Order: sequence, then structure tokens, then C-alpha cells
Amino acid sequence: MEGTVLTTLPALPPGTGKSFNTPDTNHPFLVIRGKGNTVHAFSAICTHQGCTVAFNQAANSIICPCHGAEYNPLTGAVTQGPAPKALATIKVTVDASGNVIYTTR
Ligand code: FES
Repeated sequence: MEGTVLTTLPALPPGTGKSFNTPDTNHPFLVIRGKGNTVHAFSAICTHQGCTVAFNQAANSIICPCHGAEYNPLTGAVTQGPAPKALATIKVTVDASGNVIYTTR
């Protein structure tokens, strides 16, 4: 499979998340592991005014440090304003070896 290996499932236990930059555009994004082997990835640019958001494991939420917007870590949907819309989704996949792979297609 083409793409860039970001991390592995053992290094990303369920309920945790990590920050990366996209290999092609150097754009910050988050990879969050849900239940089982599911992974979810979103742009880390807040849709309010562009601050960089981070996953907060204790709160199980993606939180913006600037004005307190929060996003659902499994969908990217806004759970608390003032963000006007969901975080953009980033495509990542998990291969048969448990590698979490970023791919542009
Ligand atoms: S820039 Fe994120 S809440 Fe304002």
C-alpha cells in the first residue's frame, strides 16, 4: 500500500491520540484511536479562527486552546462553540500489520 506510516496500533492504544503533520502539505492533524482497531483523523486547525487543536484524553475531546471550542474525537463534529463547523477529515488507514498509514488518495 502506498502512503506514509505514521504510527502503529500498539503505539496508539484505544482512547488515545497523537498529533502529526501531513507529509505532503505539513498541515497539522490528529490521529485518534477509537474502539478496536478503528482510527479517526482530522485537521488540527480550529474552524473558528485557526488555532491548533489537541486531543485531550482525560476529557475524551478535541479542544481548542484559544476560545474553548471542542470537537467529538470520533467524528470531528463541534460539541462546544464557538467553532462554526466540524474539523476536516484526513484519510488514514490501518494495514494488515497494524501500521497507521497516511495516504493522499
Ligand atoms: S480559534 Fe479555536 S475556538 Fe477560537
